[in-house]
Amino acid sequence: MKQQQQQQQQQTVLLGVTGSIAAYKACELLRLLQKAGLRVKVALTEHAQELVGAATFRALSGEPVATSLFDSPGNPINHISLAEEASVLVIAPCTANVLNKLASGVADDLLTTTALATTAPLVLAPAMNARMLRHPRTQASLELLEAAGATLVGPGEGYLACGEEDSGRMSSPEDVCAATLEVLARTQSLAGKRVLITAGPTREYLDPVRFISSPSSGKTGFALAREAAARGASVVLVSGPTDLTSPPGVEYVPVVTARQMLEAASEHFDTCDLAIFSAAVADFRPAEQASQKLKKGASLPSVVPDNDPATVSPAGASLASVASGTASASYSLTLTANPDILATLAARRAATGAKRPYLVGFAAETEDLLSNAREKLKAKGADLIVANDVSDPALGFASSHNQLSFVSKEGSSQTAVLSKEHLARHILDTLTPELC
Ligand code: CTP
Repeated sequence: MKQQQQQQQQQTVLLGVTGSIAAYKACELLRLLQKAGLRVKVALTEHAQELVGAATFRALSGEPVATSLFDSPGNPINHISLAEEASVLVIAPCTANVLNKLASGVADDLLTTTALATTAPLVLAPAMNARMLRHPRTQASLELLEAAGATLVGPGEGYLACGEEDSGRMSSPEDVCAATLEVLARTQSLAGKRVLITAGPTREYLDPVRFISSPSSGKTGFALAREAAARGASVVLVSGPTDLTSPPGVEYVPVVTARQMLEAASEHFDTCDLAIFSAAVADFRPAEQASQKLKKGASLPSVVPDNDPATVSPAGASLASVASGTASASYSLTLTANPDILATLAARRAATGAKRPYLVGFAAETEDLLSNAREKLKAKGADLIVANDVSDPALGFASSHNQLSFVSKEGSSQTAVLSKEHLARHILDTLTPELC
């Protein structure tokens, strides 16, 4: 009974060991995790058992060891109960085979079915031959798994089993243990907090098939939502159209226009502890939206032909002349301002005198990054502006990497160039002390 209560309070590490010669390092890792006060259960792949036997891990962990999908009645371990029990799934060493299977969602043994079934965070310590590591398929899998929220530890460089000195060596058990403890500490850091995130672009339709928008992919906002949910927060993600899938456990509110985004964000704002405005909202929308597709040459309400005397006005030109290129068209579009979602909601918070939600705005700039960010901090009433330079095509908008500057009343700081997933962690690490 006492042991059962102790186990309930203790967090459980499910340690997956795969068929790399580095499997022996998993024994040391297990010991380190136990020393940190964690309960460790081990799952071995078939190939791992050729290198270190289940009896070793059973003796070290004091727990039954999972080796097969088809467990015996006397040893009732199954992938679903393992998946539910795990506070974190650590796969160390993780071979190229298992890594690529995880990235593709293949679930053909006990460890990979458990990985697919668990909602626990994933820590991977890859170990493989350098050429297998450099293979584009493996590199793509590493990128994909990291984008899905996995924490990668290593691999490092050094002497490999194949006799080469190269990259692909499993990180030390100390490094994998430290990363696991960090992940576990993060999992509850926003428990009980409610977070609102706006993401993606908005679309402002001119007619049923044309719109004003921006190239925002939504990646930063979605990564923030995933990370906040992984830290125990209850998350509402209000997003304009993107190609992304909402992270599991997140309340997803899809919108199209800036006005819809304001309405949805407004509904959740007052109950939140933190609101992050990462959406690239279109500042303007066409003054009028045509109900039918605008035709070249037709005189339509919101599209006004420019009165350039040197050109033939398309309003008066026939479709045939436009199609044959004899009409040189130049149109003006009448725009009207969209509401500023961040400024509107910040003003609402100010009017009530409330200190919450803590407000984080983004600033996409092509010049004078810091002074523009300071300006926005003040003008919009935010507590923090996360600024980025969008003039570099390798960073920002549609890229998977970015470099951010944090600007608050207290001063500013800058991150290195990092993946958007790393940046999401960095942003939430920065914000957590403000909230707790
Ligand atoms: N924002 C908003 N509603 C808008 C415009 C912007 O909520 N209509 C938010 C963005 O989500 C971001 C911040 O305000 O958090 C700054 O957005 P940005 O596009 O950098 O600046 P703008 O306010 O649009 O100003 P400008 O275009 O002049 O740089």
